[in-house]
Amino acid sequence: MTHVTNEDCWSEGLADLGARGLRRRLREVAARQGAHLTVDGRSLICFASNNYLALADHPAVVAAVREAVAQWGWGAGASRLVCGHMGPHAQLEQRLAAFKGSEAALVCPTGYHANLAAIRALAGKGDVVFLDKLNHASIIDAARGSGAVVRVFPHRDCRKLERLLAGAADARRRVILTDSLFSMDGDLADLPRLVELKRAYAALLCVDEAHATGVLGPHGRGAAELMGVEAEIDVTVGTLSKALGGIGGFLAGPRSFIDWVVNTAGPFIYTTALPPASCAAALAALDLVEREPARREKLLALARHLRGELSARGWDIGPSVSQIVPVIVGDAERAVSLSAKLEAEGILAPAIRPPTVPRGQARLRLSLCADHDPADVDRLLVAMGQERERASKSCGTAP
Ligand SMILES: Cc1ncc(COP(=O)(O)O)c(C=O)c1O
Repeated sequence: MTHVTNEDCWSEGLADLGARGLRRRLREVAARQGAHLTVDGRSLICFASNNYLALADHPAVVAAVREAVAQWGWGAGASRLVCGHMGPHAQLEQRLAAFKGSEAALVCPTGYHANLAAIRALAGKGDVVFLDKLNHASIIDAARGSGAVVRVFPHRDCRKLERLLAGAADARRRVILTDSLFSMDGDLADLPRLVELKRAYAALLCVDEAHATGVLGPHGRGAAELMGVEAEIDVTVGTLSKALGGIGGFLAGPRSFIDWVVNTAGPFIYTTALPPASCAAALAALDLVEREPARREKLLALARHLRGELSARGWDIGPSVSQIVPVIVGDAERAVSLSAKLEAEGILAPAIRPPTVPRGQARLRLSLCADHDPADVDRLLVAMGQERERASKSCGTAP
């Protein structure tokens, strides 16, 4: 009998992933986050990060962190309910509640935790949760671990959602869970229609504004602000880690709901509080969101330009309407090869493959940053154009 060690199992699994073009590797970045990154000793134009407003190394944010570390030290020392709830946590929660126009807000260590905490508190045994098929993994994980029955509707298919809601009349509670700005396609949930449905079927609506916070809406409050439905959202989830440039997640909603999370949600209770300086960073980032609307205006103008040019040149950018612009090529190996060719031209645009996106929909996920110059976008377009030409010459098809 052959003895198979655990290591053999992992090696085989890794080899299998490699053979299918799905193996992933960490790559070290040797510079601050920004529109340009140093990777493997080369400076690349970065079209890969969620640092949409370029706040990850903004001087005001960095200064706020320094001051907070000087005043509060680094660690929070304990979970929030034990003794880790410090001044900056309380200040940030008040600020986030005001920013989102809700009664209360609660900060969690990450956006992932925020979804786990919110959804555990919203739904359990006897309830039904309704998920858009393209929701972020943290929503799906939270829903599956909640004990509620999970119903998945095709992406943005409100007709199917309505049928599912109608079939769940006997549930104790019905909860609709959706991203507002979808992270891999860059399109938006139809929030006004979801509001109509939640009213018609006495459901709750929880919206994850992770990619829209700081970017969309006249004041950068998110897609619900853009669509004029903020007052109708029962619970908002967001992150401090994308446009706000730092780390952490949050929930915003009625005071009683936030108190319920504090009392019952394991992902909030059983984990150490964020370092207070991370809260100070988020406060400084929120100041910039409020004071400098030009950042989001520039970001969205660059994105409009990129989407228009890519579409005009025949690339499939899916349904994107935002700063997240997919270039859908289908096959995982093709996506990897296109990404490598762009990197040879000085552009970082990683391939996104299954299981992050559905099989057959591998893509480059291009994301813009307020610190990109129009010339950066032009360089990307030129490199994509060269690649398209090269591919059509070599095999008569575009990549
Ligand atoms: C829609 C959505 N929600 C939540 C998260 C998790 O946020 P965080 O990175 O702060 O854990 C992400 C991260 O990519 C996301 O895309």
